[in-house]
Amino acid sequence: MIDQTAAWRALAAHAATMRETHLRELFVGETNRQARFTRRAAGLTLDLSKQRWSTETQRLLLDLAREADLPGAIRRLLDGERVNVSEDRPALHTALRLPADAALEIDGEDLVPGVHATLDHMATMVERFHAGQWRGATGKAIRHVVNLGVGGSDLGPLMVTHALADFRPSGVHRIEVHFASTMDGSQLADYLGRLNPETTLFVLSSKSFTTIDTLSNARTARDWLMTRLGVEEGVDDALVMRQHFIGVSASPEKMGEWGIAPANQLEFWEWVGGRYSLWGAIGLPIALVVGMDGFRELLAGAHAMDRHFREAELADNLPVQLALAGIWNVNFLDIRAHSILPYDGRLEYFAAYLEQLEMESNGKSVTHDGHEVGYSTCPVLWGQLGPNAQHAFYQLLHQGTQAVECDFIAPLRRYDDVAEEATRAHLKSQHRLALANCFAQSRVLMLGDDAIEDDGPRPGHKRYRGNQPSSTLLLDRLTPATLGALIALYEHKVFVQATIWAINPFDQWGVELGKKIAGETQRILERREGIEAMDASTRALIEAAWAAEE
Ligand code: F6P
Repeated sequence: MIDQTAAWRALAAHAATMRETHLRELFVGETNRQARFTRRAAGLTLDLSKQRWSTETQRLLLDLAREADLPGAIRRLLDGERVNVSEDRPALHTALRLPADAALEIDGEDLVPGVHATLDHMATMVERFHAGQWRGATGKAIRHVVNLGVGGSDLGPLMVTHALADFRPSGVHRIEVHFASTMDGSQLADYLGRLNPETTLFVLSSKSFTTIDTLSNARTARDWLMTRLGVEEGVDDALVMRQHFIGVSASPEKMGEWGIAPANQLEFWEWVGGRYSLWGAIGLPIALVVGMDGFRELLAGAHAMDRHFREAELADNLPVQLALAGIWNVNFLDIRAHSILPYDGRLEYFAAYLEQLEMESNGKSVTHDGHEVGYSTCPVLWGQLGPNAQHAFYQLLHQGTQAVECDFIAPLRRYDDVAEEATRAHLKSQHRLALANCFAQSRVLMLGDDAIEDDGPRPGHKRYRGNQPSSTLLLDRLTPATLGALIALYEHKVFVQATIWAINPFDQWGVELGKKIAGETQRILERREGIEAMDASTRALIEAAWAAEE
């Protein structure tokens, strides 16, 4: 176990002194601290100087990383070895962003041509939509695409389409993209109430094509179309299926059984994890918004980060450094809450995306060889747009009793291409306002009361302790390429932490039991039999649901 190594023990001993040291003292002690703890790659600048660590801490953390054979693990991941041990397969999301002239042989087969064949298939579809030539069953051009998916088949495309909405290509037929994920049908019901079935197409996104959340939404959508176009307009069912449904899955058989026309099936592979899948066919909604060129830029940005991850020294490697800061906080400073705070409204869904990426990947307590870990793994991670969170939960960050690590994220430049001069000036000033708040908050979290001129004694409720660690991530601009690099940075950060904790970040067995029990509970609810096997609380809840139906 990693916590039995000399490297871990050295860190634990070192932590005893560092816990007593306030962040403000670290800054006083080192004049070039900012430069020493700041690194750049792929259009991103990562400032880790507001972490509660020193050069000595970093040196010891690098020893720990080498002890866990991090360099070997990075190579094994990127070379396609079977790093997903419990499912005995590689985790090759990085292969989805390899350029066409690259090669990656796995079991004697080069994966790159297949990856680019899928991208070409997507490109053909996107071109048809953007030319106004993908027509519904009554002959009208499709205008609305509703993505039906959940988890990785929802959050990645949702987050990226929102972040890159400014990058729509001009002069193409505009497609509005919508997302419905919840099994209760509330999002879908809203769309069905206001969209025209003649111009609406559904993308069924599901790696397994067995997820009940997605399939229940899909059934409702199919019935809506069949009623509105089949029964009311007299359109043939097969035509409705062909013109109004696309499937994206690793199971062509299941897509076929469900009725997705073969030409409308976009395939991906078992070796792409759901929460790592936005880079391929699951990214179709992204390509519908930014166009295929924009989508390829997103891939290129992620690939630039992959290359940095493979090539940069551990000490200069952004994902490694970000991960080590997290390990230091969780395992040595006992800081087990982590907040993601973007200062750019376009990144509204970034925290939700990372919640799945980090907690579904590293929310584990058993090592690769089946032993219970004796140390903490993934912290509780949550977040929201920073400016809004300032008026919501920052109170806890500043004066609560929990230590929290924060990631502040912002683009340096924005609004350069707003045509109208006065509006551009206003928006640029709003951008500066957001940056000022971003920088001010991390400073106050670090320094506490010392951020202000001494104005005499204050009562306790007006005092700030400071000493909350944070990282600041600056994007030169928010573009498809820098967003790709940002996402890949976090994917690799997750992998580095998993490597040190000796857990598998690519499976999610923890969610299976809940699905099974939900199936059983649904049968009891529907058939009204079998309730005796339930505990008293669950029995009462089921009975309340039955009573409400009477
Ligand atoms: O239940 C968890 C999960 O398997 C996620 O890992 C996945 O992203 C999501 O469900 C959706 O799965 P699918 O794409 O197979 O529908």
